[in-house]
Amino acid sequence: MLFFLCFSSLLSSSFVSNALRSTSTALDKAYIIQLAPETEVSGSLSRRDAHITTFHKRAASIEYDVRYEFKNPDVFLGVSIQATGTASDEELLPQLKAIPGVESVSRVYSFGIPILPNISAPMEPMLSYPDPPPLNASAGAGKLGSSLQMGGVDKLHALGIKGKGIKIGVVDTGVDYRHPALGGGFGPGRKIAGGASFITDDGQVANSTDPLTTCYGGGHGTHVAGILGMDSVPGGFDIVGVAPEATIYMYKALDCAGRSVGDTVISALSQAYEDKVDIVSMSIGTGPQSYSGAVDPLADIIKKFTDAGIAVIIAMANDATGSPYAINLYSEEWPSTETTAIGVGAVSNTDFPLIYSAEDSTGAIIQYASVYPLNVPDGADVYLLDNGCDNNDWTVALSIIKDINNTIIAFGANLADQGCKAIRAGSWAGSPITPVYIMAYNAPTTNPVNPAQEDPYLSAYDTPSQGFFGTAQFININSVDGAKFTSNYASSGGYLKYKLNFKSSNFTSALQPSGGLMDYYSDFGPTWHDYTLKPQISAPGGHVLSTWPLGPLGGYAILSGTSMATPYISGCFALVKSQFPEATIEEVKNRLQVTAKPTLWVFDSSILAATPQQGAGLVNAYDAIFSTSVISPGQFTVTDISHTEYGTANITIENTSKSSKTYSLSHQGAGYMDYNLDHQEENQRAIYGTADFSQSSITISAGQQSSVHLSIIPPSGIDPSKLPVFSGYINIVSDDEDLQIPYIQNSTSSAIFPRIWSYNQSVLTVDTGILDFVAENGFGSSLPTLQWTREFRVDVLPANTTIQANNYGFDKDAEYTYRPSAFTPNSTIFDHECFGTLTVLLGYIEPSGNGIFRSDTIVTGSDGGNWAVGNGDYRWLVSALRWGGVSGVLGDYDTWLGPVVRFVSE
Ligand SMILES: *[C@@H]1O[C@H](CO)[C@@H](O)[C@H](O)[C@H]1NC(C)=O
Ligand SMILES: *[C@@H]1O[C@H](CO)[C@@H](O)[C@H](O)[C@H]1NC(C)=O
Ligand SMILES: *[C@@H]1O[C@H](CO)[C@@H](O)[C@H](O)[C@H]1NC(C)=O
Ligand SMILES: *[C@@H]1O[C@H](CO)[C@@H](O)[C@H](O)[C@H]1NC(C)=O
Ligand SMILES: *[C@@H]1O[C@H](CO)[C@@H](O)[C@H](O)[C@H]1NC(C)=O
Ligand SMILES: *[C@@H]1O[C@H](CO)[C@@H](O)[C@H](O)[C@H]1NC(C)=O
Ligand SMILES: *[C@@H]1O[C@H](CO)[C@@H](O)[C@H](O)[C@H]1NC(C)=O
Ligand SMILES: *[C@@H]1O[C@H](CO)[C@@H](O)[C@H](O)[C@H]1NC(C)=O
Repeated sequence: MLFFLCFSSLLSSSFVSNALRSTSTALDKAYIIQLAPETEVSGSLSRRDAHITTFHKRAASIEYDVRYEFKNPDVFLGVSIQATGTASDEELLPQLKAIPGVESVSRVYSFGIPILPNISAPMEPMLSYPDPPPLNASAGAGKLGSSLQMGGVDKLHALGIKGKGIKIGVVDTGVDYRHPALGGGFGPGRKIAGGASFITDDGQVANSTDPLTTCYGGGHGTHVAGILGMDSVPGGFDIVGVAPEATIYMYKALDCAGRSVGDTVISALSQAYEDKVDIVSMSIGTGPQSYSGAVDPLADIIKKFTDAGIAVIIAMANDATGSPYAINLYSEEWPSTETTAIGVGAVSNTDFPLIYSAEDSTGAIIQYASVYPLNVPDGADVYLLDNGCDNNDWTVALSIIKDINNTIIAFGANLADQGCKAIRAGSWAGSPITPVYIMAYNAPTTNPVNPAQEDPYLSAYDTPSQGFFGTAQFININSVDGAKFTSNYASSGGYLKYKLNFKSSNFTSALQPSGGLMDYYSDFGPTWHDYTLKPQISAPGGHVLSTWPLGPLGGYAILSGTSMATPYISGCFALVKSQFPEATIEEVKNRLQVTAKPTLWVFDSSILAATPQQGAGLVNAYDAIFSTSVISPGQFTVTDISHTEYGTANITIENTSKSSKTYSLSHQGAGYMDYNLDHQEENQRAIYGTADFSQSSITISAGQQSSVHLSIIPPSGIDPSKLPVFSGYINIVSDDEDLQIPYIQNSTSSAIFPRIWSYNQSVLTVDTGILDFVAENGFGSSLPTLQWTREFRVDVLPANTTIQANNYGFDKDAEYTYRPSAFTPNSTIFDHECFGTLTVLLGYIEPSGNGIFRSDTIVTGSDGGNWAVGNGDYRWLVSALRWGGVSGVLGDYDTWLGPVVRFVSE
């Protein structure tokens, strides 16, 4: 079962149109209003709300209810409201914007229910359990701590490094803090030491100091809190969180249906800031990153947190599919996309934690995955459905079954001819009785890239949490035992002839085929506009056992998602921070990144997973603390290191050990990806760049540091119009350490590909030498930008210009006779004479086929005036500002100087 809380109503199951989806829906006529500090009133603490009182006075003509008030000038000043009158959204927006002191007005975006799977159905009714019985976990020899071992956390715990002194704020659904493994209470001195609630269980605005939640939908925050800091307690499973001595502050911002809205999240963040947390962990998102570059107040707040030294760690979301043919690049959700946020990807747990065994009436052993063993002392009958996703099959079964309390209703999951997923099992709402035990057996799945490798990504086992199927207990068996079961069931004569006996309540664990590899659903970066590498790092997130609300919900659950990987990284951050209290966010992040372990691609183990899928790789908190080399940066995008030195980077290495060390540097390619997969090519391919180092080996004395310069040489033949990303690692290897820095780079090819043409007697002529135009007959151009840019312009220069472009639309050596314009060029562009401009686009300009179609010779001069340049020879200079480039600096643009455009009279 995948978990990630999302504040989008768009449940993503397809990504092809990812980029075109807008960010979530807005709450009707609700607004977040950013206000200027009220300077007329003295700034004493008692008047922290002066800006709000003043706003209310000035907005007296508008009818509204106040939702939340934001009073911390270091986070956000303002108020959020919902209009109650009859005024429309179109009328209200300008009215609000016109009020003095209002700096910005944004809509209140709604969070949706968790994305994969939809867990809305089982939340009815919102089960709440006031009086939980004690925990009752089983014993066994399973590897419950496998996820901690994967990240070196067990070794730190053995040394007593458990996150003491670090405060972690969690923005989530609230928590069942009554759970003994979570300290059994709330308040100062407890594990869950603080927090607040800004939403009620049923989604109303709230403002209380109690983040308790006991409903099924509140399980998400309870699970997240356990991964961070649960303890092993009597009656519970013998498993601990990543930073069990850190203190947790829970900010309840999502209701029992997993929904929230933007101003609720801002309220939670404001309170976390007031509480002076060191880290904010957010396993939530708003849906796909904005394609338009639209800014939300939350973006600015996340940056302010980072500036104030509070690390913001956010899940990437679970929108990627299992298909190796899916366009997954750029799929991550906002706000993990924020440059200063640490985005987290999910790695599959090496072991499925809890497997129990049953014996069938033929004597065969059938192992099953479940949090708790089935308690049916006299054995259970089994009723096998034809199709678990067919509601009618359930209705018929429930009418036939004689002893529902001793019967398991079984069905095949992922059968080739049905494709029924276990979590999509049909509904029995129309039946007077409900199932008590449900069992899905899995069909084998085959790796489409490498058919020899079975079940490479789809897990052998899965267990939706207790509560997902209402009061029924669900168990799951793998494809091998599934085949055994169906065959024995048939040969025994089926229902009432075949039985499963449950004698042992001891568990084991089972190795997972995809263990240690990136989980297929974990979203990909980089960010749209600036190619920031996302995720920064990955952690175990697939099939993680942690705490769950008490009572019938069982107290523990095994869940999967980047939601689970995020508190793991937050915990690791706390462990490192506890050892280096003075370290900046960047320093802690760099330590975590360079010591992480890159993983192979789940569909093809001959290549490293692309860095936009795994970031630095699987975290290793032990190495992050005990590494004796401090390396920066922790990641880089080749284009943004320097404005004018594209393709280069500098790496700084500090040797903090007590003796001299020699480091050798090398390059290792990781998967190439692009956004326009043709003909189902695999989405990661072995196309790599190379690197040139100023020195391939460097000896650094104890306590000293040194820098190495490098250039990345991209692979050849990359088509920039596919929005490609190639990726890899710079390996920095010494006798005792194997470190690396992940990078990404987009194509170095030209980002623009323009052509100009004329209509000669209705025939389209594209020329690269001299184009004769009778302007009135019309002429046109296609000037596509193949990648993102923040400035795109076309200027008209005299044809004898000496400006140096980096692409030319003509043969520079060809001779021609220059026919100057009757006018003197009287504007300049990049310090070169020009007549004026045809177009300037500013902002987030998406890759598109810009074109200019005209039938005159008019340009816009630097004074803003339009005038006709008339007959003569001109060239168009087409310029697209490179990412990170400075406007007005020629070297920072990708430029194209076109052929002679010769305007003549008829
Ligand atoms: C969510 O549920 C709806 C209705 O049951 C279904 O059509 C849709 O495919 C589901 N979405 C996902 C992502 O599974
Ligand atoms: C919550 O209530 C307190 C006390 O009334 C108030 O100071 C604070 O601004 C409120 N918080 C929000 C987000 O509205
Ligand atoms: C079950 O586990 C307990 C505790 O580890 C052990 O004492 C007991 O012998 C086990 N029982 C079986 C049947 O393996
Ligand atoms: C099944 O068990 C429940 C709870 O123990 C009980 O209320 C119910 O009557 C039982 N149903 C039957 C058909 O025995
Ligand atoms: C690398 O360092 C050198 C020397 O300090 C500097 O000139 C250059 O601009 C740097 N390059 C990058 C890409 O930061
Ligand atoms: C271009 O030609 C004009 C004459 O029309 C001349 O004045 C100007 O100096 C020339 N520019 C260059 C860069 O040669
Ligand atoms: C450039 O010259 C043209 C033609 O004389 C005139 O219309 C225009 O205003 C001038 N532009 C500037 C910026 O001086
Ligand atoms: C990479 O993408 C950016 C942003 O669109 C673009 O400006 C740049 O030219 C591309 N290529 C390189 C090598 O920077």
